[in-house]
Amino acid sequence: MTIDTLPAPQRAEAVRSMFGSIAGRYDRANSLLSGGMHHLWRRKAVRMLASEKDDRVLDVCCGTGDLAFALADALGADGEVVATDFTPEMVHFANEKLDGRPSKGGTLGFQQADATSLPFEADWFDSATVSFGIRNVVPPAAGLAEMARVVRPGGRVLVLEFGQPDGWFFGPLFRFYSKHVMPLIGGLITGQRAAYEYLPRTSLNFPAGDQFVSELLEPAGLSLVEKVSLTNGIAWIYLAEVRT
Ligand SMILES: C[S@@+](CC[C@H](N)C(=O)[O-])C[C@H]1O[C@@H](n2cnc3c(N)ncnc32)[C@H](O)[C@@H]1O
Repeated sequence: MTIDTLPAPQRAEAVRSMFGSIAGRYDRANSLLSGGMHHLWRRKAVRMLASEKDDRVLDVCCGTGDLAFALADALGADGEVVATDFTPEMVHFANEKLDGRPSKGGTLGFQQADATSLPFEADWFDSATVSFGIRNVVPPAAGLAEMARVVRPGGRVLVLEFGQPDGWFFGPLFRFYSKHVMPLIGGLITGQRAAYEYLPRTSLNFPAGDQFVSELLEPAGLSLVEKVSLTNGIAWIYLAEVRT
C-alpha cells in the first residue's frame, strides 16, 4: 500500500513522517531536481501577490521556508510573515536558516501548525500563500478553506503547485524524468527514494489549470484573479481573492 491510498488520518501522519525524513536534505534535492527553477517560480509568485509593504502574510506548508523568506524580503519593516508547517523537522530547518539571515524586509516567524486547523482568528491576514504544499494536505479542500477563513474578505490567496506539462515532446519527456530520474536522484540525495516516487506521482494526478480552479479554488470561497502556467505547465500559480 502506498501513502496516497491510505485512509485519511493515517495518510496525513505518513505525509508528516515522510517530510520529516527528508527535511535535512530537502533544499539540496529541490535545487538539483528543478535545476534552480523553483527559485524563479517563487519570485514570480511574490511579484504576483504584490503585497503592500505593511501587509500581514501567512505562508502555510512552508517547509524550510524559501517562499516565506522571499515574501518577507518584499515587505517593509511594518510588514509580517507568519509561516507554518505541521512537520517539526521542517520548522526546525526553517528556523536554522532564519538564524543566519540578515534582517531586512518584514518580520518573519515560523511555527508548527496543521493547515487544516490553523490557530488564527478569521480575517487576520491580508493574504495567504502555499507553494508545492496544497496537494499534500489531507484533504486539500480543507487547507484552502482554512486559508480563505483566516484572510480578510477581499484579501488574496496564492497557490503555487505542480501541474502536468503538455506538448508531444515535453509532456512525455517530463513524465519520464518524473518517473525514473527524480526518484533516483532524490533517493540518492535524501536516502528516501519512496518520497521522490510519491512527490511526482501525486503531482501527475493533482488537478491543474481550469480543473484546479473549478474543483478546489472556487468551492473554498475564492474567486480566481489570474492563473499562470510555468515552464510548459510543470507548475501553476493561481492568484485568487477571498469573496466578500
Ligand atoms: C513539498 S513541501 C513544500 C515546502 C515549501 N512550501 C516549498 O515550497 O518548498 C510540502 C510541505 O507541506 C507540509 N504539509 C503537508 N501537509 C500539511 C498539513 N496538513 N499542514 C501543514 N503542513 C503540511 C509538509 O510538511 C511539507 O513541508
